[in-house]
Formats: sequence, structure tokens, C-alpha cells
Amino acid sequence: MQDVIEALEARREKARMGGGKARIERQHEKGKLTARERVALLLDEDSFEETDMFVEHRSHDFGMEKQRIPGDGVVTGHGTINGRLVYVFSKDFTVFGGSLSLAQSEKIVKIQTAAMKVGAPVIGIFDAGGARIQEGVDSLAGYADIFLQNVMCSGVVPQISVIMGPCAGGDVYSPALTDFIFMVKDTSYMYVTGPDVVKTVTNEEVTHETLGGASVHAAKSGVVDGAFENDIEALTQMRRLIDFLPGSNREEPPMRPTYDTIERQDDSLDSLIPENPNQPYDMKELIEKTVDEGDFFEISPAFGGNIICGFGRIEGSTVGFVANQPMTLAGVLDIDASRKGARFVRFCDCFNIPIVTFVDVPGFMPGTKQEYGGLIKHGAKLLFAYAEATVPKVTIITRKAYGGAYDVMSSKHLRGDVNYAWPTAEIAVMGAKGAVEIIFRKDIGDDEKIAAHTQSYEDNFANPYVAAKRGYIDDIIMPHSTRRRIAKSLRTLRGKELSNPWKKHGNIPL
Ligand code: HXC
Repeated sequence: MQDVIEALEARREKARMGGGKARIERQHEKGKLTARERVALLLDEDSFEETDMFVEHRSHDFGMEKQRIPGDGVVTGHGTINGRLVYVFSKDFTVFGGSLSLAQSEKIVKIQTAAMKVGAPVIGIFDAGGARIQEGVDSLAGYADIFLQNVMCSGVVPQISVIMGPCAGGDVYSPALTDFIFMVKDTSYMYVTGPDVVKTVTNEEVTHETLGGASVHAAKSGVVDGAFENDIEALTQMRRLIDFLPGSNREEPPMRPTYDTIERQDDSLDSLIPENPNQPYDMKELIEKTVDEGDFFEISPAFGGNIICGFGRIEGSTVGFVANQPMTLAGVLDIDASRKGARFVRFCDCFNIPIVTFVDVPGFMPGTKQEYGGLIKHGAKLLFAYAEATVPKVTIITRKAYGGAYDVMSSKHLRGDVNYAWPTAEIAVMGAKGAVEIIFRKDIGDDEKIAAHTQSYEDNFANPYVAAKRGYIDDIIMPHSTRRRIAKSLRTLRGKELSNPWKKHGNIPL
């Protein structure tokens, strides 16, 4: 009996060593942790239950039959984060560069299927060289099996991808199908084809970093939702993010006890809006003063900065915040902001997370760059997302709500449940200057008349009272009472029941 127990332990030990000591050292020299070290940091201590540790590839080509490493380049299993169940797979670069064999794909699909069955998030950690070249079409088949499960999981359980090394070819499309992607600065990169292929096909000279580093994807392409300094910071932040998310679409968002009472009022908010309507202020200040204990997890902070998206809590329960940011491009809605906002709103709606929207938006961004880039369709994504969302929606207009952007930003007309305005709100088709120049064009040049028209327009339209008279705004609230008013609205909306007409699925303007 003792023999067989020792034999099992020896086999386990071999599997734990992955590609061996030398390759583990190489991994550390590059500033990266190993697949197992990452899992250990991500999960609660001793909570990891590994599965398929002894799986090996079944290839006989190119001498592969002589190179079988138990686990085959991915560590899979489940564990807990602050006591809540999550499923994990972590690519092991020390084994064939983490490349995907058919056997490896079967391990990952098993994790995805199990997570969906019990209703728990899936976190994938990527550090791999793409398709296992020696396996040919079997590897491609394996990728497709994973992609299919990504799509099946979408909207059922949260899926998070963390890129912690190379991620190329087939490996990029699984993360792209998940809800959130994060990267580690300097040690990770993501692209469909690498610098050598780029040089051959387009004659462009690029480095790994300029083609697909964290600086590219977190700020320029918007492919990833955040970049962290190193493996440890990334994994710690993933623990924080998971705390905000429900396990599945069958659950309500998690509750966390808080000492931050909803009666807390913040008098500094009464002077947040500057006298000059063209002067910016930091909308993040409002969010941080509204959420429990100022704890806000921002999504894509470096991309589409004119809209802020992220998770906070009110009365201990998760809320998704979407807010125009006057500090960047005056908070205008452009292509990037519309895409970013739409995706976030849809995530919240999938997972029963109420949405609070803070509005200060001068409209959609004008210009050929935006129009040629398809602003009409991209802007419509955000409109579609808000309109179809059935979760509780609370909206607060702090200052500008102009034109189509007023409609889009969770207005009453798109089934906003509670729509408030601060007394500083201006709800109109456009700002006074633009409006006067159009409707009183004949008076341009006569400064006195223009000033009188502007004053009259401001008196009549640049306020929240016209909208409030029509019931488009439920109440005009004191800025200092924002947290309390939101909390009470969300309390009231806990029993909200609303569904859309039956359909196979809508056709969001992709
Ligand atoms: C098999 C691979 C491999 C792969 C790396 N290795 N990639 N084995 N298949 N795709 C092995 C190496 O042979 C090496 O083995 C070990 O992993 C580490 O690789 P190195 O090259 O030494 O590491 P490094 O210098 O850090 O370079 C990492 C890398 C490079 C940039 C990822 O390995 C690379 O370019 N790999 C190939 C990437 C690629 O073209 N993949 C196919 C993409 S096409 P030893 O034994 O020496 O440790 C694709 C199509 C799928 O994915 C489409 C589905 C839709």
C-alpha cells in the first residue's frame, strides 16, 4: 500500500515540475511566475483542487511520443477567492511553450463546462505560443472547441482572461470572446500575427511591444480592460474584481457588509460643478464619493477616457457605474466611448448588476474621422445596450445632457427607472451658443441681439425644469444627497421585474 501511495506522490511531483527546473528558472528570469505559482496567488490559500494533472498529449509525430509531460502545458481546476468558487486554467509556458494540443483543449473545455454547470466564473491565465505546431489540425480543432464553449459561457458565467506572457495566433481569440481581458506590462503581448509575419506581409517593422504590448491594447485598441505592473499586482486585482461579480446569471450580485451608511452626505458635491459651463471637473470624484468606502474598480481606465465604466457598491451590493468624464474631450460620446460603454452596460445586464449613470455629455463627436469610422453604428451600440437592459437603471444628470446623447445615456425614454437631475443640469437639444447661431442666424453680427437670445435660451432651456415638468426627470435633487437618493432608488428597485419580447436574440449593430 505504501508503495502505491509513494508512486502517486512521485507522479504528482513530476507533474508539478512541468517542463523542468531549467525552464522554470528561465520563466523567473523573465520576471514571470509559473502557471502554478499564479494559481496559488490568485486563489485562497490551499483552496486549489487540481484536475487532469496526469493528462498527456496523444501525438506521435515529430518524435512527440518521446516527449510526454503530465498536465500537457496547462494547469486546470477550481478553488475559491474570498470563499467564493471560481474555475481556473493557467497555461504553463515551460511545457512546449504552453502551446495548445488537443488534450490540452479537452482540459480547458472540461473547466468551462463544469463552471457553467455549477455557476462559477472562469479565469484563464495565458502565457503560450499558440497552436501546438506538431499537432496540426488537431490543435485547430481544440481551439474551436474552446471558442465554442466561450460563446456558450457568455452571459451565463463571467469569463476573465489575464495575459501574462506571449499570446498569439489561436490564443488571442479565446480571450477576445471573454468578458474582460487584462495584461501585464512589459512581459505580455497579444496579436493575431507576430512581428515577423507583419514584416513579410506589410513590410512594417514592429517590435512585440509596439505591435501588441499592454501599452497598445490598454490605451489604443481597447482590446484589453486594464494593464498591471507585474504578475502579482494583476492577480491581486483579479481577486478584487471577482469580489464584485456574481457567480452566474442565476445569482444576484454578491453582498459585502459595509459600515458606510447611506445617510452619509457629501457637502463638497454642492460645489463640484464649476460656474463656467465649459470648465471641466472630475466625474470620478462624484463616483468615489457615492460608492461604499470609495471603493471603485475601473474598467479600461486608459481607453475611451471620456466615459468612465466600473464597479462599486451601494449598501454592500455591486453596482455598475457609467459616467461621462468632462475632463477628457468634454465627456463627448465618440466611437471608443460608445463601444466601451455599450459592452459594459451589456455585461451588467447579463449578470443582474444594476446600472447607475452619471450624465454630463455635450453630444456625439462631430467630424469626418468619426463619421468615416462608423460613429453612427458605434453610437447605436450604446443606445441599443441601454434600451435592451432590464436591470435597475438609475440616472443622474449633473450638467449637460444635450441632443441624442441625452436620449442615449439611460434616459427615461429608454426605460430608465429613476431619473434625477442636479439643479445645475442643462437638458436641451444643444448648448446655448450653437442653438442661437442656428435659430437666429440673421442676427449674427449684432452682439446685443445675440446676447439677448442667448440669455433667453439659457433661461428657457439650460436647466432641468422643462424636463421635470414633463416627467422626464423624476426629481431635482441636492448634489450632497446623491448617495442617499441612489441607494433608496436601488432599494426600491430590488423587486424589479421587466422582460423584453421573446426573440432568439436581438441584432445589436455590431
Ligand atoms: C510547439 C512551441 C510552440 C508551438 C513555442 N514552443 N511555441 N512548441 N508549438 N507553437 C516551444 C519551443 O519549441 C520551446 O521549446 C519552448 O516552447 C519555448 O519557446 P521559445 O521559442 O524558446 O521561447 P521564446 O524565445 O520566449 O519565444 C516565445 C514565442 C515563440 C514568441 C511564443 O516560441 C514563438 O514564436 N512560437 C511560435 C508561435 C506561433 O507561430 N504559433 C502558432 C500560431 S498559429 P523548448 O523545448 O526549446 O523549451 C495559431 C493558429 C491557431 O495559433 C488558429 C486557431 C484559430
